[in-house]
Amino acid sequence: MTHTAVKATAPGKIILFGEHSVVYGQPAIAVPVSQVRATCTVRENSAGTGILLNAPDIDRREYLSAAGENDPLALVVRRTLDALGVDAPSLEITVTSTIPIACGLGSGAAISAAIIRALGEFFRRPFESQTVSDIAFEVEKIYHGTPSGIDNTVVAFAQPIFFTKGQPIERLTVGAPLTFVIGDTGIKSPTYKVVGDLRARRTENPAAFDPIFAEMGTLARNARAAIERGDAASVGQLMGENHAILRKLGISHPMLDALVGAAMDAGALGAKLSGAGWGGNMIALATPDSAAKIGAALASAGAKRVIKTVVR
Ligand code: MEV
Repeated sequence: MTHTAVKATAPGKIILFGEHSVVYGQPAIAVPVSQVRATCTVRENSAGTGILLNAPDIDRREYLSAAGENDPLALVVRRTLDALGVDAPSLEITVTSTIPIACGLGSGAAISAAIIRALGEFFRRPFESQTVSDIAFEVEKIYHGTPSGIDNTVVAFAQPIFFTKGQPIERLTVGAPLTFVIGDTGIKSPTYKVVGDLRARRTENPAAFDPIFAEMGTLARNARAAIERGDAASVGQLMGENHAILRKLGISHPMLDALVGAAMDAGALGAKLSGAGWGGNMIALATPDSAAKIGAALASAGAKRVIKTVVR
């Protein structure tokens, strides 16, 4: 059977509420960011020499057979072919992404999701979003230590979610569109390091941390209600409270705090770090009119990149 080349994509993501506390069973809210995407193209390798992995962004071109056992691209390809029950095909798999790496925008999960979808479509057995998420989660577990599963879930379903670890996905209804401005500190911060550090501190003294995580869970539940009723002012207020708690937990960074301050001075309804922290991204809630001013304020406060996204 000959197959035509196929292409699949997956969006980036931001966490609106509940990063870190979500790892400990509290609910969190995440939304896709379609302005940045991972793309995977699968075609037959006409030379018939096995599976060739191409990642031009990182200058990588090698056969799957030469990739290490725990190499993330190789792992997701192997797990997906296992799920498809396909044995030793000859393929050329090309992955590109406009999602910055290690910045809290879900780059790893999106790359996995794009590969899984493209392989499913190539073999004419497209996966359900839940299966895309489940396979991507297997890879996240190897790279992030103890991930909650929120990243793979939001990029696989590509819609706003209210997420609790181990529970069926709950789609979030957005009462009125919310305009977010994302500011990238440009400081790379691998998620597993921040999550691992917090886990070690929490293991020493759970009684000091668990009530704080519960408080963040309450914020996420209140935020869900505010988002559903289209109450942007309350969403902004809750973002500020969430950022204050993350700071107290030692998850922020002076640059994140500076960008949050700059956004608030420029009229944001609320601002907070988003994702793992210690660098990466922050988000500010704007109105359609204030977004440009807030974006300019973030850039002049040192943001390396500014992305506007509207959540509906
Ligand atoms: C990373 O995007 C979000 C964290 O809560 C980690 C996780 O949920 O796995 C920091």
